[in-house]
Amino acid sequence: MSTKPVLWITRKLSAATLRRAAENYQLIVNEADGLHSADEIIAMSHKVDAILPCHSEHFSAAVAGALDARVKIIANHSVGVDHCDLPALKARGIVVTNTPDVLSDATAEIAMLLLLGAARHAVEGDTLVRSGKWDFWSPSFMVGKQVSGQRIGIIGMGRVGQVMAKRARGFDMEVHYFNRRKLPADLEQGAIFHETIEGLLPNADFLSLHCPATAETTGLMNDKTFALMPKGAVLVNSARGALIDEDALIAALESSQLSAAGLDCFVVEPGGNPKFAAFDNIFMLPHIGSATGLTRDAMGFRALDNLDAFFAGQQPKDQL
Ligand code: DGY
Repeated sequence: MSTKPVLWITRKLSAATLRRAAENYQLIVNEADGLHSADEIIAMSHKVDAILPCHSEHFSAAVAGALDARVKIIANHSVGVDHCDLPALKARGIVVTNTPDVLSDATAEIAMLLLLGAARHAVEGDTLVRSGKWDFWSPSFMVGKQVSGQRIGIIGMGRVGQVMAKRARGFDMEVHYFNRRKLPADLEQGAIFHETIEGLLPNADFLSLHCPATAETTGLMNDKTFALMPKGAVLVNSARGALIDEDALIAALESSQLSAAGLDCFVVEPGGNPKFAAFDNIFMLPHIGSATGLTRDAMGFRALDNLDAFFAGQQPKDQL
């Protein structure tokens, strides 16, 4: 009889991850790859020792309170853990881990894509050529905002923020940042630290968000903070939708306070904000910051490393 722990993998993970997981666990895999309601998560908890979820499964305080005592660990396939009520899970004695580091390059790539696409009319240009109605050219046509040599503001200078700063330096951008703590000089690499977000924003011709969604950061970008940015600035969000007051973003675009935005995250996911569809200066992607083959494997393996350590009686590297 197998003594392997029973592991529920809530979504369709990479083939390499599933192969490796099958070596050490009895797997329950979500072949259909659908989303799970709170009731389904609670029902499944009676059958499994461990759960490997994505940010799409929500472990609210109510869910945490109702999970069966059989579940010992939630090994997330994500760096963000705003879908988990950590104090409530901790109170139940459930270990929670995440997957930092391994998705920083892929996420910064998407942030840079959003920045460039938003600045240079990617949506409008692609739509026009694709429509077959492109019958005009002029030097005053689709004039965008130059990226090279401009100032970028980064909120959250953790792993992804630091990679974004490196990519921005490749475009000769002057990097400004806000972080809870000033970084040591070897990590700062010449970036200019601001002690407050209010101090940072007037320097952000481009602003890229890389902080977690918490009670303190929800609605961080709102009417007041948009007003502090230089007129015509560009906003990029590859972190979490909750950081932005989406009505305030629409108002800032309508008043030209912002010239464009690039968004990979939305308050409502999946789905996004239907009001945004009217704006061809919003370049949107469906939360695919970490969606490369290499990174998906690395995220899956990191989650399995955490599970393997836990079931070997050790503290998982990424225990929160
Ligand atoms: C993360 O890891 O937090 C990404 O948003 C994908 O879930």
